[in-house]
Amino acid sequence: MDAPEPMDRIRKDLKEFASYSAHTSPDYMKKKFGLNLEEIIKLDANENPFGCSPRVFEAMNSCTSYSVYPDAAQTELRRELSLYTSMPPECIVCGAGSDQLIDLIIRLTVKPGDEIINLPPTFGMYSFYGKLSGAQVINVYRGMDFVICFDEIVSQITPRTKLIFLANPNNPSGNITPKSDIQALLETGVTVVVDEAYYEFSRETVAPWIERYDNLIVLRTFSKWAGLAGLRVGYGIFPQYMAEYMMRIKDPYSINIAAQNAAIASLQDKEFLLERIDHIIFERERLFGLLSNIKKLLPVPSKANFILSLLIEGRAALLTDTLKQRGILVRYFDAPEMKKYFRISIGKPEQNDVLVESIKEILLGDTQW
Ligand SMILES: Cc1ncc(COP(=O)(O)O)c(C=O)c1O
Repeated sequence: MDAPEPMDRIRKDLKEFASYSAHTSPDYMKKKFGLNLEEIIKLDANENPFGCSPRVFEAMNSCTSYSVYPDAAQTELRRELSLYTSMPPECIVCGAGSDQLIDLIIRLTVKPGDEIINLPPTFGMYSFYGKLSGAQVINVYRGMDFVICFDEIVSQITPRTKLIFLANPNNPSGNITPKSDIQALLETGVTVVVDEAYYEFSRETVAPWIERYDNLIVLRTFSKWAGLAGLRVGYGIFPQYMAEYMMRIKDPYSINIAAQNAAIASLQDKEFLLERIDHIIFERERLFGLLSNIKKLLPVPSKANFILSLLIEGRAALLTDTLKQRGILVRYFDAPEMKKYFRISIGKPEQNDVLVESIKEILLGDTQW
């Protein structure tokens, strides 16, 4: 038998697969602009500008069991999460970031050829993992003010529709979907994944509804409010039957000991962390005011830790590139419907001030705008 061509070794349906366009790496900034991480104002990945709880470092340093495998059932972490969420530990499943849970939910519920409803512009990993698993990703674009189009969603539901993904607040727009709409989505009978990655900033949740709806999943993460993006810890709240299946298909050791300990330490220091969230929310509103005062910008009201802005006149890609040259990273999305937008993660007050002054200088100081 002839050996296959190298490209024939790759799944046919993945040959055109586009990788997730991640945030600009500190390594790139170092190479391209000679800037170290401390010199960069990094407002492109919705990370926590204040970092994690000091108790995380204590927990990491005092741990003596790095040579043994972690607890495959995440018993202590799920117990702490049960206290935090007021949901039973049997309904909670942890993952290496909520990204891993998105992947596992799709694997649990979707066969190749089944359909997933995605509501763009939104978080890219729903369609990423959907396509990776061979699902048909049905995009139902949001309308004015990034509001979901309920009637259009319903009209796209077929017997093969297995999941609807709803980020709430939505990333990158920051808006909330009203609870009445979420309820209406649940009433369709399709499994609805409500991704509450930014819950601590919006303070709105449908998690208690899990007791009423056996087709509701709520996802959360430690990446944003707890400042643990680099350690990768997320969790989901599931109806108990679904949580049991998630635990069956989950690889046992994906949440390493350092990550489990860090998440537990964060939950035990939640008052401290949530007070910082108050500061970030205050800064969000202040930054929104400053951006609103820049003539060429139209910021979108946000309930998360970022603000999307429309550049009314000019090219958002050029603005974000010019900011990058100055060591300020914000997020530009290379999608046709997002060409005039860019997203700013809320930084420390002094970072936000430098950003606003730089945007003003760039927009007002050059004729190309
Ligand atoms: C809506 C949404 N869900 C999930 C995630 C990923 O979270 P994690 O870091 O836990 O994988 C993000 C990250 O930006 C997000 O915006």
